[in-house]
Amino acid sequence: MSIRFDEKLRLFQLDTPNTSYIMGVQDAAGYLLHYYYGKKLLPGDVSYLARTDEPPYTPERNLREKLAFLDGAPFEYPTGGVGDFREHCLEVRTQEGFNGVELFYRSHRIYPGKQMLDGLPATFGTPQDCDSLEIVLEDPILRLEVTLKYTAFRDVDVITRSVQVKNRAEVPIYLTKVLSACLDMDNQDFSMMTLHGSWARERQIQSRPLGYGYQGTCSQRGETSHQEHPFLALTTPDVTQTSGQVYAMHFVYSGNFHAQAGMDAFDQVRTVMGIDPAHFTWKLEPGSAFQAPEVVLVYSGSGLGKMTRTFHSLYRSHLIRSPWRDRKRPILINNWEGTYFDFNTDKLLSIAAGAAELGIEMLVMDDGWFGNRFDDNRALGDWFVNEQKLPGGLERLVEEVNKLGMKFGIWMEPEMISPDSDLYRAHPDWAIRIPGRAPSLARNQLVLDLTRREVLEYVWGRIRAILDSANIEYVKWDMNRQLSDLGSLGLNPDTQGELCHRYVLGVYELQERLCSQYPDLLLENCSGGGARFDPGMLYYSPQIWCSDNTDAIARLAIQEGTALIYPLSTMGAHVSDCPNHSLGRVTPFETRGQVALAGTFGYELDITKLSQGDRDMIPKQVELYHRYHSLVSSGEYYRLASYRENHFYDCWQVLSEDGREALVTFVQVLRRPGNLHSRRIKLQGLRPEGLYREEETGKTYRGDALMYAGLPIQELWGDFRSKLIHLELAER
Ligand code: GLA
Repeated sequence: MSIRFDEKLRLFQLDTPNTSYIMGVQDAAGYLLHYYYGKKLLPGDVSYLARTDEPPYTPERNLREKLAFLDGAPFEYPTGGVGDFREHCLEVRTQEGFNGVELFYRSHRIYPGKQMLDGLPATFGTPQDCDSLEIVLEDPILRLEVTLKYTAFRDVDVITRSVQVKNRAEVPIYLTKVLSACLDMDNQDFSMMTLHGSWARERQIQSRPLGYGYQGTCSQRGETSHQEHPFLALTTPDVTQTSGQVYAMHFVYSGNFHAQAGMDAFDQVRTVMGIDPAHFTWKLEPGSAFQAPEVVLVYSGSGLGKMTRTFHSLYRSHLIRSPWRDRKRPILINNWEGTYFDFNTDKLLSIAAGAAELGIEMLVMDDGWFGNRFDDNRALGDWFVNEQKLPGGLERLVEEVNKLGMKFGIWMEPEMISPDSDLYRAHPDWAIRIPGRAPSLARNQLVLDLTRREVLEYVWGRIRAILDSANIEYVKWDMNRQLSDLGSLGLNPDTQGELCHRYVLGVYELQERLCSQYPDLLLENCSGGGARFDPGMLYYSPQIWCSDNTDAIARLAIQEGTALIYPLSTMGAHVSDCPNHSLGRVTPFETRGQVALAGTFGYELDITKLSQGDRDMIPKQVELYHRYHSLVSSGEYYRLASYRENHFYDCWQVLSEDGREALVTFVQVLRRPGNLHSRRIKLQGLRPEGLYREEETGKTYRGDALMYAGLPIQELWGDFRSKLIHLELAER
């Protein structure tokens, strides 16, 4: 068992291969306090770390100063209203309007394996992979029962946490804040790392010193968003890719989130993560339970690179459940940037025919194939094929595409409704909106109220009808606006505050049905690019569209931030046309290919209009994908240099699990004036004694020299140029 309870010390210790997470029960009342998280410790008494033998002591010894205890003790799951004035995890409102809640230990159970969370995505593991712990806490006044759920993995340095709140009283209670995790510790001169962005500029890495007061990130947009990401890491000042300490939290959820860290008056740091309390009130009926989503905790004592590989490993083995996780994904061509809304069967077939000749394996028909959808102003919700564009319907188009030896995939945006649609004309009340107020439009569209059964069933009916009408092997599930004007005709005045979370549960229910009823379907999630690239979505789809920005250079920072936590196999990445449609920049076709090879790889252009020179490069790129696909998708990722930091070049490496084969991608963003002089780039993770042969030159290098002294990479001629370096062990 990787989880132990010491009866005498009343102490819980959760161990992963290199880390320990320790908490315990103190005071006769039974406060659950956090003692330690970090490098693995041998079992022992570390309860002194809670400092309850120092003034103000616990209430048992010093009731007079209970407030000082509550406001300074390291709580495992802090609550609001009774004296902990820091950020806390649980807040309630009784029917009478009172707020206080205080929790005490009651019982626990430890069991092998991991149970899934009702209606929510979560990491999974067998009894061989992990052990779990449930600690039951209670507020005896409110008769509120809070179960803290933990899992410690055996094959990866991860602890997961979530919380369930049950109402054991005879009257309803309102939950106004239920966060999923908290971590209290002393400051170590931490910096806080988060990911921020915008449309076409998602997941940019940001790091700033942690100060007094709370700082962090959140989304109140109904989805994870382009702007923020449910990830927060604290790093020590010595942190690099290979050294320093990192405490990271990542939220397995796709809606509003709240991630905050702050330092108190005693230089103690508290970090919390969960559903954002704004726009959240949950009416908990007697006997019912609320399950909060899961937080993944990673501690690395060896820098950011170790943190990254831990997340990659967890998500690859214990989150993505699609059978496509380990399968080679077909190289696709998507017509969005190639044609936008201006296409028909003939045009799509000519793109497919041109693509098939060059080795591309799947045609994806993007937005514009349904209803009156000639532009982005109308028809969302009318999921009926537009026969003017596609005579003979999907059946004919897909048959013809299949005849070319290609698979067929389709774009849908099932959560949306256009005011100019037959669906809206029939059901104007199906959109999320506040009665009596004109709802704000975005891209001229509104969001369907998936909290309502009839709406969800209608959407599901249309998805099924489309998928059953032809041989569709891939779906790109899009979501192109954020939630505003929060109102649902299906909810009561006292449950309107449940809308945002219930909406996300509706999305999960639809995706769950899709995965279970179409198990072989390759699902790619998308949200105006990468606004819903999160671990929740990864549970349903093995890949997510990274960004609408397909410019190879802008993609460097986007993909660096994404790969900081997500495996390369999950990053939707395409070679697109130039000048780039988001930025107007022109980059070499070769560079676009090499940057896209770090993700799922595909094309997004009209191949019939491509220059002969670019076309000629496609078969070579296709060959590279086939050669390196398994290395890229299953290998260990190392960030060697960042253009974001050095302003000249970017470089990353993927290493096979056995350390025998490495692929290094070097992108020279700006050519540095001066003599042509090579740069030594230090590789990582190789076998020090191994002799590696560089494929292109046939030169051999010792692994230790490549790692500690570096591989010389010549400057390339011109900006935006790139180079792949493939190294393989030449001897055992
Ligand atoms: C979003 C997606 C794009 C494309 C368009 C279609 O912006 O991110 O890839 O599918 O919608 O409207």
